[in-house]
Amino acid sequence: MKFAVVGTGMMGCEHIRNLAHIPDVDLVAIADPNEKPRNWALKACGDRFSPKIVDDYRDLKSLDLDAVVIASPNFTHINVVRDLADTSFHLLLEKPMCTTLEDAREVIDLDDAREPMIWVALEYRYMSATTHFLNRIPEVGDLKMFFIREHRGPFLRKVDNWNRFNRNSGGTLVEKCCHFFDLMNLATGAHPVSAMASGNQDVNHLDETYDGERSDILDNAFTIINYDNGVRACLDLCMFAEGSPNEQELTATGSSGKLEVRIPNNQLSLSKRTGELEEYEVPHDPDIAFMGLHHGASYLEQKAFIHAIRTGKPPSVNTRDGFQSVAMGIAAQESIASGQPVAIQPL
Ligand SMILES: NC(=O)c1ccc[n+]([C@@H]2O[C@H](COP(=O)([O-])OP(=O)(O)OC[C@H]3O[C@@H](n4cnc5c(N)ncnc54)[C@H](O)[C@@H]3O)[C@@H](O)[C@H]2O)c1
Repeated sequence: MKFAVVGTGMMGCEHIRNLAHIPDVDLVAIADPNEKPRNWALKACGDRFSPKIVDDYRDLKSLDLDAVVIASPNFTHINVVRDLADTSFHLLLEKPMCTTLEDAREVIDLDDAREPMIWVALEYRYMSATTHFLNRIPEVGDLKMFFIREHRGPFLRKVDNWNRFNRNSGGTLVEKCCHFFDLMNLATGAHPVSAMASGNQDVNHLDETYDGERSDILDNAFTIINYDNGVRACLDLCMFAEGSPNEQELTATGSSGKLEVRIPNNQLSLSKRTGELEEYEVPHDPDIAFMGLHHGASYLEQKAFIHAIRTGKPPSVNTRDGFQSVAMGIAAQESIASGQPVAIQPL
């Protein structure tokens, strides 16, 4: 299977390392306008791949490829998808699918009009602890409340620091939290109706300016999502809490019990209202051949993407999932700006 990667910064290189751990795959080309990340990519290739290097991803169109991984900055996703839409390439498109609803709708239209798939890389679904947790949610009875806490450090430095501005990333609740909104949708199995959020940029990047413009991304927020089946979900995000022993905590509470998991220590507990308590550490999926930066999740996602291509199956994470997670982040950002609840745009 012949691959190319567009954008070979941190995530593009993670995809290359994943591919290097999967048999019967060749990395035929990489595309990045900057020399430094192109060199990172060659290092990630090791002895396994000798890709052609291009500056402009549009030059990939003349190559014989099966699949392209799009790992360029968020604001570039729409143009890359537009330009590659008329090819036969299957696309693995990094999250967030886009930075605006208008662009996300266009990606759905482009996807509907083409035969090969567009798979949106919402890979938190593939973390071993998350998958295990989602599978056990029915054991809490009727799910009523779903809670996610992410307490971590600030956004990492990026090539040209594109992630320091809302206009480039879509805003923190789109860029980072589309993963968590996607998990909420999976856990509830329902449609998100409205968002109420409060947040701010209180600590991080306050003294960072680029061409005289100060970074404007928020670093903490509480977001409540109301679902059409009555379930309430809440996200507690703090990006100045790198001392936190776990980065993520997920809690599902229902009519008969409560399920919790912490990541990365993978400790899970299921407590019943009758007093029973089950606690254990969730093992990593034995199929993971490369842990990478996301506890093996992007490796498993890459394998699932390749399996879908080989078997002709539809994408497990499609552009509608991508749209929904972006729409929730945008509604939450708007709620913070207005101080009012905001309706989540339907497809
Ligand atoms: N799935 C995850 O958990 C996860 C984690 C990190 C990043 N991401 C996503 O991956 C994407 C890349 O993020 P990153 O952290 O690697 O950023 P990065 O800045 O490290 O890398 C982005 C790369 O894209 C290149 N680039 C810029 N414009 C381009 C263009 N027009 N064509 C081709 N390449 C171009 C840059 O030179 C850079 O090398 C983003 O969409 C980000 O949200 C996903």
